Amino acid sequence: MNPKKIVLLGSTGSIGRSTLEVVDRHPGAFEIVALAAHANTKLLAEQYRKYRPTFLCLGAPDRAEQLKQQLKGESVEILSGNEGLLSLAALEQVDIVVNAVVGAAGLTVSIETLKNGKSLALANKESLVAGGPLFQPLVKKHKGRILPIDSEHSAIWQVLTCGRPTEIKRLIITASGGPFRQLPAEEFPKITLKQALNHPTWSMGDKITIDSATLVNKGLEVIEAVNLFEIPIDKVDVVIHPQSIVHSMVEFIDSSIIAQLSSPDMRLPISYALFWPQRVESEFGQMDLSRLTSLTFEPPDTAKFPALKLAYEVAHTGGTAPAVFNAANEVAVKAFLKEMITFDRITDIIASVVENINVVSEPSLNDILAADTSARKLAGKEIEKAKC
Ligand SMILES: NC(=O)c1ccc[n+]([C@@H]2O[C@H](COP(=O)([O-])OP(=O)(O)OC[C@H]3O[C@@H](n4cnc5c(N)ncnc54)[C@H](OP(=O)(O)O)[C@@H]3O)[C@@H](O)[C@H]2O)c1
Repeated sequence: MNPKKIVLLGSTGSIGRSTLEVVDRHPGAFEIVALAAHANTKLLAEQYRKYRPTFLCLGAPDRAEQLKQQLKGESVEILSGNEGLLSLAALEQVDIVVNAVVGAAGLTVSIETLKNGKSLALANKESLVAGGPLFQPLVKKHKGRILPIDSEHSAIWQVLTCGRPTEIKRLIITASGGPFRQLPAEEFPKITLKQALNHPTWSMGDKITIDSATLVNKGLEVIEAVNLFEIPIDKVDVVIHPQSIVHSMVEFIDSSIIAQLSSPDMRLPISYALFWPQRVESEFGQMDLSRLTSLTFEPPDTAKFPALKLAYEVAHTGGTAPAVFNAANEVAVKAFLKEMITFDRITDIIASVVENINVVSEPSLNDILAADTSARKLAGKEIEKAKC
């Protein structure tokens, strides 16, 4: 079999590095055509030397210049900025574009990938949340495909092979509950950055780790599921499952609930997406059931974590509302990571921005980008007011 040709966007991040571990595990199965990151020239240069792609891209143009100096004399084309990402998504010889960029910065390249009729292996949930109304029409028109990498959506995707779309009663997305599941809400203003970055079951990039602590991540995933599986929001439930072993479930109309289980390891859903429609032998996520002490499930506490309730509301509203929710969160999380605001303010800021920005109900890409920009501006103002 010819190796699958891959463009990997966000190669220096947590998902990007895990994707390369999957590639390493299966010599000859994949060819890396391009690698892209934002600013990490050091790691991108190391990855270049190992995988020898034809193209590299850095989001920050000054870093691209630095990289050109570093790799002088090498036969690699170095691109930069969003334009660079878009041209990678249009490369003719490519089979799969893995989008592991963090945030809505990944939106236009997801769209470009689908416009080119390619397979989009999607970790970048923010793009599907913000650009939701645009994705499935593009998949249908250009005969591309979305291969979910998010572990919950990979689980549902795998389980959906057990029934027809008309037989689905509801999707049940599991959530670890994050590090503050048992902390009283009164303590939230005192949460430190270090505590918030200490996820109990997964090791991930900073932004998604904070999103998991606020349950914004689960909110994004609920909206992601609506857009990915074309299912009404009322048929998507969340259940807290602190062990992160059951990655999600589907309840069918005969009341059977079918689940996918493994140890938490993103290399398993990445492998499933890259090899789909095949399964391949692998030890990623392997688990000894006899050593499991318990699997527990409880409802989410939306009074303590109102971001999840807010995500359901914006999903109901639709149009540009999810893009606004997402953009406000990105800005608020960045401010929390810089210790400019307290943990509890993240959700307050999102709520205030969502409330104050008008929704376009059947948006174009320009409408979505404009909503994203307005939300970022307003969130910036809210942060100024909330600074600690
Ligand atoms: N980590 C997980 O286990 C996990 C699980 C499920 C879903 N996801 C999703 O996967 C995505 C990536 O998460 P992550 O945890 O891997 O994040 P991460 O570790 O922070 O990595 C982000 C990657 O995106 C690159 N990047 C950032 N801004 C960019 C821009 N403007 N243009 C181009 N590249 C840019 C970064 O480059 P630099 O290194 O140069 O900054 C890095 O390669 C997120 O959407 C997240 O929600 C992650």
